Amino acid sequence: MATNEIIVGLVGSPNRDGRTYQLVTAALEGADRNGAETELIQMADHVVAACKDCIPWVCRENLKCTYDDEAFEFLSKKVLNCAGLILGTPVYWWDTSGMVKYFILKMFRVYARSAPLQGLPAFGIGIAGGTGNGLVSGLRPVYHFFQMMQMRALDPVPATRFNFDSAIQRSGELGARLAAMAKDRKAFSSLEERLLYYDALPYLGLSRAEERRLLADYVTQSLPEGSSAEIARGLARADTLAAAGKALDSLAEVSKVYEAGLEVFEAK
Ligand SMILES: Cc1cc2nc3c(=O)[nH]c(=O)nc-3n(C[C@H](O)[C@H](O)[C@H](O)COP(=O)(O)O)c2cc1C
Repeated sequence: MATNEIIVGLVGSPNRDGRTYQLVTAALEGADRNGAETELIQMADHVVAACKDCIPWVCRENLKCTYDDEAFEFLSKKVLNCAGLILGTPVYWWDTSGMVKYFILKMFRVYARSAPLQGLPAFGIGIAGGTGNGLVSGLRPVYHFFQMMQMRALDPVPATRFNFDSAIQRSGELGARLAAMAKDRKAFSSLEERLLYYDALPYLGLSRAEERRLLADYVTQSLPEGSSAEIARGLARADTLAAAGKALDSLAEVSKVYEAGLEVFEAK
């Protein structure tokens, strides 16, 4: 199989068999079920060095980092030659991991101008495996990468401990869709079309308060039957307060739901 028929899954975590790995694996299995050849790459084996800002800016013409960086050579070639990309990141401090960020920044510097990834189907998975905070904000840099590189991204997968099983399933579904899209790569016809396309993707436009409500919702949905009714009523109260313009009271209510749900979840 030619390299540009392969769906590549990048695991952006230092834990080789952790949750990022499990989610990216599920996504690749979905692609595999739909007939695609797949390859999983541990970014921990190829940690890109920080961009050193070559002046003059020659890497954009040479299409190569000006400084020796074998990890970047390796990863960028894999991505440039793939048919579809899955990028999984653990959420660190409500953001992507450093190894993902350094890779993205160097890709911008070398390739954003020539845009060789136009129309490449892709999606991102972010796993906020601790508190769950940052489940959306941790994915935004990944989707900024896709957008700036003019790739055609599918819905993001914001994963936490609380919705982990459904995130695994969703990753598999999206992996299958990615395999289908990879056969017919479509670039955007204009910047405007691309911007509106990305604006229409779910989750990424959530405010901080809405992101916290989503997290509280995932927590309540993960609770055993019977234990969650009263907790979930708290979310309804939060929504009523928000509708009445009481944003701070509403968010405090969301936090109460989250804390109460977390206690039950951890006692399970
Ligand atoms: C430096 C660091 C920062 C973290 N920050 C967050 C965070 O902001 N939100 C969260 O839910 N979990 C956070 N975690 C927990 C990781 O998201 C969690 O362990 C996740 O499962 C990591 O993926 P992995 O299993 O693939 O390593 C953090 C972990 C580390 C090491």
